[in-house]
Amino acid sequence: MRALGYSFETAVADIVDNSIAASARSVDIWFSPFGTIYVAILDDGNGMSADELFEAMRHGTKGPKAGRAQHDLGRFGLGLKTASLSQCRQMTVLTKKNGATHGAEWNLEAVERAEDWALHELEPADIDEVPHSKDLSALAEGTLVVWRELDRALAGESDPVRALQDHIDEARDHMSLVFHRFLEGKSPSLEIRINGDTIRPVDPFLRSCKGGQTLPPEPLQIGDATVTIEAHILPHISKLSASEMALAGGEEGLRRNQGFYVYRNRRLITWGTWFRLARQEEMTKLARVQVDIPNSLDHLWSLDIKKAFAHPPEPVRKGLRQIVSRIADRSKRVYTFRGHRGWAPEIVPAWKRFEGREGKFRYEINRDHQLLQALREEIPDSAGPTLERFIQMLETTFPFDSAYADMASDRKPELDEATDDLADRLLDTAMRMLASLDAQPALRARLLDQLEQIDPFCKHPAVAKKIKEQLQ
Ligand SMILES: Nc1ncnc2c1ncn2[C@@H]1O[C@H](COP(=O)(O)OP(=O)(O)OP(=O)(O)O)[C@@H](O)[C@H]1O
Ligand SMILES: [Mg+2]
Repeated sequence: MRALGYSFETAVADIVDNSIAASARSVDIWFSPFGTIYVAILDDGNGMSADELFEAMRHGTKGPKAGRAQHDLGRFGLGLKTASLSQCRQMTVLTKKNGATHGAEWNLEAVERAEDWALHELEPADIDEVPHSKDLSALAEGTLVVWRELDRALAGESDPVRALQDHIDEARDHMSLVFHRFLEGKSPSLEIRINGDTIRPVDPFLRSCKGGQTLPPEPLQIGDATVTIEAHILPHISKLSASEMALAGGEEGLRRNQGFYVYRNRRLITWGTWFRLARQEEMTKLARVQVDIPNSLDHLWSLDIKKAFAHPPEPVRKGLRQIVSRIADRSKRVYTFRGHRGWAPEIVPAWKRFEGREGKFRYEINRDHQLLQALREEIPDSAGPTLERFIQMLETTFPFDSAYADMASDRKPELDEATDDLADRLLDTAMRMLASLDAQPALRARLLDQLEQIDPFCKHPAVAKKIKEQLQ
């Protein structure tokens, strides 16, 4: 039982789950690496009666099949014990309800000595000895969980003080993400403090950063329950500030943390995976999809004791698969066309992208581009078909594979910036385009007026502005 693979941060989060289920508005986590090392977790939730406490200290009293309140984060009736004993050898729970405080304790050393499983009930004098018992008595109701003898948490550590500090830092990062929906907003439903410092929420969808997109939520009906799916496309890396970038997990984190973010009752359960419904390919690294499932669907998911989802059930997979391809497509577009102001009609691009059948796509050279029109006018009519064949050849032989591989490794193409005759070439290009319109002064004026919106000038607005002034 003690080897269920809990980490320190998931164990702490499991205790906080219970606090949330008990309607707590605030949770205080204290730890002391000095003197007697302990971790104490106090909530102001509903507390337990003596009977409830002894029930709670035993295993699986409320099994997976028991009906659960809608907002309950529990499932197996195990978390309190397994999470605690995965980290320590002495777990104490004090709880206060209706003015009465009760305490109970599992002490593995005593269990080993007595060679039987005996739950130890605390006398009032023992209760006063428990770290932070005074903080509990200051509350009307609440529950305090204290871990001592942290053998597991600090196993193999030569510097326990440092090790505990590291664990606490990990726990802070973990909780700021998994409970972010409880911690955010103008009046958060929950406040978690560590040694008095309030934990700030981390929004994996970076909704406060400019340049991202949220697609409309899509409900997925499964029996009586509704799973809600909302896709977020993060802003492109180039638009993120250093701190936003760090929040997103850095460049590596952006790639690794794409995928579904699955919430059960608003608590983040698992994230950063496409459940093999899509490839974790580089080009979709901006997509993060929020999946909200109610606990009434627990029976469909293979939810383990640590509340990590293994595989979504078939009906959910089916719905997600369809949504995934749509989202991946949007994410790719953000990635490919950054800075291009999308396909706003005022932009005259050199290339156009078309959605083909069966999820295929194609790129075509813009036949309406004025430079191409100019060329057509300069060559004899008989050369027209050859020109068209030539353009088609360029379009159909475009080296997608190698360009994709280059982009995926975050390499940058060598563009006009690198050459010093850029201004001269752009000026020449502009003059050729304008010359073809000499007979149509109104059109000519409009072209010049909109020069900054036309490829390739839109990529070099400063140069385009100078050329405009020169030619106007
Ligand atoms: N902080 C708390 N405040 C009030 N009641 C609590 C608290 N912690 C635990 N309990 C009670 O103890 C019971 C057992 O908790 P435990 O975490 O072991 O199981 P669970 O939350 O029901 O399921 P899970 O195994 O998924 O965590 C809970 O169902 C709840 O009734
Ligand atoms: Mg629990």
